[in-house]
Amino acid sequence: MNPIPLILDCDPGVDDAVALALAFGARERLELLGITTTAGNVDLAKTTRNACLIRQIMGREDVPIHAGLAKPLSRDPIIADDFHGPEGLGDYPASPPSLGPQSTDAVSFLIQTIETAPANTISLAVTGPLTNIACLIQQAPATARRLRQIVLMGGARREGGNITASAEYNIYADPEAADITFNSGCNIVAFGLDATHQVRGTPAWVEAIARLDTPGAKLVAEMLAFSNALPANLMDTSDPDQPATGAPLHDPCVIAYLLAPEAFSLRPCRIEVETTSTLTRGHTAVEFRKAVAGEFNANWVWKANPEAVLSLLLRYLA
Ligand code: RIB
Ligand code: CA
Repeated sequence: MNPIPLILDCDPGVDDAVALALAFGARERLELLGITTTAGNVDLAKTTRNACLIRQIMGREDVPIHAGLAKPLSRDPIIADDFHGPEGLGDYPASPPSLGPQSTDAVSFLIQTIETAPANTISLAVTGPLTNIACLIQQAPATARRLRQIVLMGGARREGGNITASAEYNIYADPEAADITFNSGCNIVAFGLDATHQVRGTPAWVEAIARLDTPGAKLVAEMLAFSNALPANLMDTSDPDQPATGAPLHDPCVIAYLLAPEAFSLRPCRIEVETTSTLTRGHTAVEFRKAVAGEFNANWVWKANPEAVLSLLLRYLA
């Protein structure tokens, strides 16, 4: 099976760190053309440093990293350091990496790389706010549509929201960028909270991964343990009678889909983003009815197999 050409745009972030470790570890399955970083969970300098540090831990300094935009298109940055720690990697020591990012910025890298590759070959995984992606679409819309697919973590339908009662963080942080992305004509697979809340890093998962005793497994176990130690009132769960069994693995689901799409169920839909309301800023209206939606613009992941995600982590962190 030929490796999948992939660019990962992220805001590490503890769950982005798990997604990065999985992507770096699956080197025979994923041809990582580059990593691009955006502001999000913590500021751009920290998300970029964190991506470089994780790359170093995983021994993948063959993969270039390109820093993107430092703030959303038109909103003030909102960080999520209560979920990710002040440095963005929980309480993992954020020492300076031996190799930093390339000098070419993320959007220029995206445009150059997508334009020179054959059409419909590159997958773009996005696990943070969609700011870089929106700039790619605004600057080079036809280039963006050359992508095979955009697989993004963002939005919520049945699960409501996590940063507010009605919005998920990645969309809330830059709703205008999300609106541009969903209206781009690109082939989109959207992992909202409805899917990612089905995949939780339980204490048993943390122990199984830690037993691998590799640098990547130790990092991932630390990230999951940090998230599981968060105060219960921060833990995403929509069912008060069902206490969360562990923190949701939002971003690793995106990489797991690229490695094992059969572990997930998708449904065509139209996703529209609230950009004018204060109360429901960043809400994603996910419509499955063609008669109501008119034109579909994405595929919504409604079912996930958590055991499949764990087995991928155990395989590629070993
Ligand atoms: O809502 C979860 C998403 O927001 C994840 O990507 C997490 O890393 C944060 O960016
Ligand atoms: Ca993220």
